[in-house]
Amino acid sequence: MKRAKITIIGAGNVGASCAFWAVTKELGDIVLLDIPDFADKTAGKALDLAQCGPVDRFDCKITGTSDYAHAEGSDVVIITAGIPRKPGMSRDDLIQTNVKIVGSVSEQIARVAPQAVLIVVSNPLDAMVYTAWRKTDFPTNRVVGQAGCLDIARYRTFIAMELGCSVEDISALLMGGHGDDMVPLPSYTSVGGIPVTQLIPADRLSEIIHRAKVGGGEIVKLMGTSAYYAPAAGTIQMAEAIIKDKKRILPCAAFCDSEYGVGGYFVGVPCVLGAGGVEKIIEVELSADERKLFDTSVSHVKELVKVADGFLS
Ligand code: NAI
Ligand code: 2OP
Repeated sequence: MKRAKITIIGAGNVGASCAFWAVTKELGDIVLLDIPDFADKTAGKALDLAQCGPVDRFDCKITGTSDYAHAEGSDVVIITAGIPRKPGMSRDDLIQTNVKIVGSVSEQIARVAPQAVLIVVSNPLDAMVYTAWRKTDFPTNRVVGQAGCLDIARYRTFIAMELGCSVEDISALLMGGHGDDMVPLPSYTSVGGIPVTQLIPADRLSEIIHRAKVGGGEIVKLMGTSAYYAPAAGTIQMAEAIIKDKKRILPCAAFCDSEYGVGGYFVGVPCVLGAGGVEKIIEVELSADERKLFDTSVSHVKELVKVADGFLS
């Protein structure tokens, strides 16, 4: 059987962590790619990871490079290139720099890996997915953003911490953009099949939801840079669903046109992820209050895309 090929652009904190999760799951051969100035450092990270193979028992080839020729024929390309936020910055503050980086990376990927499914991670996420789509001109099902898998993981972690139960038993849904106005949905959250609203009082649940929404900022304050282990775990959850054609239902930033009446933007919605990328967007019922929160989050995404458009030539 042909081994999958995964190229990860940006070998920094998120990119290197993605490579680590991918090899430990033996998802395929990995190309870790960064700018020429970091070619040696990237080659070193690849070699270091390869040397985990005998211990963790994986047979993945790992290449560290700055040459796009190595990305040729990739099945999945993950874009983590760009600057992360520092304390005091919002994700939106990164837009001018990262539109340029993600734009140029995407053009090169379109050239060498025109059949790939693209998973975008760089921030501000919803505008960067749009940028990658504009610059690759890939069909919308093959361009998807990672945010929901991370945001929902934070929400699930905090619920498990509150209840003292296993994170495995918490199932939840979260929609909207990857900003502090993201929309965790208690009406679609259950613990071992029991609605969360029967287990946690409403005021306490609101506090947990708030912590999940600003969970990225909590880590930036603690570490002086943004999170990378959980973002990478969420990204590789998506890559695994695509490579193994698992048809997982995951919250992803997917292109919504008529769906939820969004009108042609990438926003977080529940998707079926498989070999074809985003194979289906699932439209769930939302209450009037939930719909209002979703619409507010989507209007923020639209504003960000307008700003990104201004920097795209
Ligand atoms: P980092 O600074 O550790 O790594 C970024 C890497 O991108 C650096 O190694 C840099 O050299 C590389 N890079 C810059 N320009 C490039 C280019 N033109 N081609 C190839 N590589 C290039 O940053 P970190 O922490 O890995 O974050 C990366 C991005 O991911 C940031 O924009 C951050 O905000 C975003 N992020 C998104 C999350 C999400 O859930 N969507 C979660 C966490 C981070
Ligand atoms: C996060 O939510 C910075 O988007 C990144 O941690």
